[in-house]
Amino acid sequence: PFVVTENCIKCKYTDCVEVCPVDCFHEGPNFLVIDPDECIDCTLCEPECPINAIYPEDDVPAGQEAFVALNAELAKAWPVITTRKDPMPDAKDWEGKPDKLPLLER
Ligand code: SF4
Ligand code: F3S
Repeated sequence: PFVVTENCIKCKYTDCVEVCPVDCFHEGPNFLVIDPDECIDCTLCEPECPINAIYPEDDVPAGQEAFVALNAELAKAWPVITTRKDPMPDAKDWEGKPDKLPLLER
């Protein structure tokens, strides 16, 4: 499956959600995740993210391996999102910032 990684935190542009043919994006307060049990590896979402937060499970950036398990865990807890919405208000300021994992809200 594909995985949403750290750069999405506090940005949450949501361009990714509308292309998913199987509705596997789930939304939390400041981050989205992909349900690995639903993702069919269609690859459509990956180029939609304007800040490159989506990767195949086998190719997540070094140091971000924990996001594989986080997507699986949080997809079970958060509701599905299928319609694009406004990004987080200060998304521009948080693009590409390192070490955002401690800022993840559940
Ligand atoms: Fe959905 Fe396809 Fe992205 Fe998987 S790869 S989350 S099926 S759009
Ligand atoms: Fe996040 Fe990118 Fe989607 S910032 S909400 S993975 S478009």
